[in-house]
Amino acid sequence: MDCVKTYLTAELPLYLQTLPIPDTLAGFAELSTEEMVQIAPLFLLVVSMVLMVVVHLLPASPAPARVNTQIKLDEDKIVDKVAVKDKEVYLCRCWKSNKFPFCDGSHNAHNKATGDNVGPVAVRTEAQ
Ligand code: FES
Repeated sequence: MDCVKTYLTAELPLYLQTLPIPDTLAGFAELSTEEMVQIAPLFLLVVSMVLMVVVHLLPASPAPARVNTQIKLDEDKIVDKVAVKDKEVYLCRCWKSNKFPFCDGSHNAHNKATGDNVGPVAVRTEAQ
């Protein structure tokens, strides 16, 4: 810890005092190569800090939302087979049904809460 203390209280102030910081922005263009090398660590530190602040302030892109939030979440993929015999069935497309894969009308509450417009798909056998 002594080396850190010595660096922060003695070495760093000495380094900062000897930096050839120009009085104006245009003065940077007049620095010699040796002076640019001398000021480079401070310049990189300032640029890094500005980038960290900018990255921290930028909004993170949200992860795509799940469609299914309640049905068979432990399965990798849900595939349901439904036999349709002489009648019409309504299959859920909102993933909110408590009788999934069949529609139980839960899409109405979902639509009201979210402004969505989902509904079931009606499947029926063709008359023969
Ligand atoms: S409950 Fe999902 S479409 Fe009706």
